[in-house]
Amino acid sequence: MPAVLCVVNGQRAGERVKVRPGEALSIGRSGESDLQLLGLGVSRFHCVVEDHGRELVIADLNSSNGTFVNGQRVKRQPLQGNDTIEVGAIKLVVERAPGRKAPVPECEFTDSGKADTQVIPAAALAEAAARPGPMQQGADSSLRRHLVALERVHKAISAEEKPGPLMAVVLDTVLEELGAERGFVLLTDKEGGLRPQVVRISPGAAADARLPLSRAVVRECLEKRASVLCKDIQLGKPRAAGSGRAVMCAPLEAGERVLGALYLDAAAGRQHFDERDMELLSAITRHAGLALHRAELVDSLERLFVGAIETLVAAVEAKDIYTYGHSARVSKLGRRIAEAMGLPESEQEKVKLAGLLHDIGKIGIPEAVLSHRGRLTDDEWAYVRSHPQIGESIIRQMGSERVVELCRLVRHHHERLDGTGYPDGLRGDTIPMGARILSVADAYDAMRSNRPYRSPFSARDAIAELRGNAGRQFDAQAIEALAELRAEGRPAAAPDDH
Ligand SMILES: [Fe+2]
Repeated sequence: MPAVLCVVNGQRAGERVKVRPGEALSIGRSGESDLQLLGLGVSRFHCVVEDHGRELVIADLNSSNGTFVNGQRVKRQPLQGNDTIEVGAIKLVVERAPGRKAPVPECEFTDSGKADTQVIPAAALAEAAARPGPMQQGADSSLRRHLVALERVHKAISAEEKPGPLMAVVLDTVLEELGAERGFVLLTDKEGGLRPQVVRISPGAAADARLPLSRAVVRECLEKRASVLCKDIQLGKPRAAGSGRAVMCAPLEAGERVLGALYLDAAAGRQHFDERDMELLSAITRHAGLALHRAELVDSLERLFVGAIETLVAAVEAKDIYTYGHSARVSKLGRRIAEAMGLPESEQEKVKLAGLLHDIGKIGIPEAVLSHRGRLTDDEWAYVRSHPQIGESIIRQMGSERVVELCRLVRHHHERLDGTGYPDGLRGDTIPMGARILSVADAYDAMRSNRPYRSPFSARDAIAELRGNAGRQFDAQAIEALAELRAEGRPAAAPDDH
């Protein structure tokens, strides 16, 4: 379901605008904005609301007067249902926002009464679509609608790499396009059973806590690897007038593997699915099956990759009890700072991974040097200063294209804006923004940590210390983003947070 914003006041009062999954809605005074608002204090390009599948996020576009959510000025912030947004003098309310990690409701497979079930193999649907005949006569508008739906699914599939959000976007699109009341993405599990991965129930659908699904329809779909259309089927209870369901179910496949099925239904009296609807559902699930397979592979590789990095980092940190957990905290805090600064999600992700890896080069430094508590000799200091380069070469040797992108952030996390840092003495903007963020997160976490020779700094003192060095050593914008996180009460990573 798309998120919905309602304009409360001004010329467009009462208007509702949708933000579709995977898309963004720009808001501003300019006619080029998706939602043009003419009101006092509204900048030409004021802010943007993005739907990331699981969450709705608002980001200020450096507007003159700022964007406010529930009275608080924000740069980038997730939105919840009923949040009030202020754009200049215009107010908007979030009427519907995608749920964050909402639990998947339980489904119940139910035996159904005898029904007139139509099983349509994919080849037959493709043939029907190509053949001139009643399916195509006067079907221009329906064809256009189907093409738009396919385009939307294709766009979402290209933009989304995670299996859960990907299937949520696919399900939202088919539910809306086909006027179904309920939609289920059912995936096969390791034991050979089926589990609901994503469930959507339209607000107008009859409430039934058990969420019954026809076992016969799903079985037929999976066994025959074909789409199943059933115009009127009774689920479980004795038949009462008007209680039948219209059902469509299509398999999700990738090559020889059956990954699961997409199941849609509606009250038979309110909705009649036909072959054309089946054709669209089948076309979408063919794309979705392949995309789901790809997303699952990427997801498992990602987990393997992050797990391997965490193991490597733990091995480095085991050398020194005082740095235990430091990399994980810098990673978490760095990503939050990047998010608060409005950096794109891909950059936030890079900062997160580079944060985990930033001190990996310490694996090449003798333990005696790392645990040395007094003043370092020149040789020892040279060892310590070499860790960003050692880290960079370790990462480069991992060979993955993905990690090579992180090399620059790891290499430059000890550079200083005034050019007195190491290893390259870079200045100002020539230091990558991700590395400047890590430098702030690294210093903050170090100050907040206990050391044998001093007590930890308070959060306020640590931020004051960073501010005192803004522009010389640290990036002022990153420091202010960190200060804002604390002011908003979002705990910044620090030893006292774990
Ligand atoms: Fe470091």
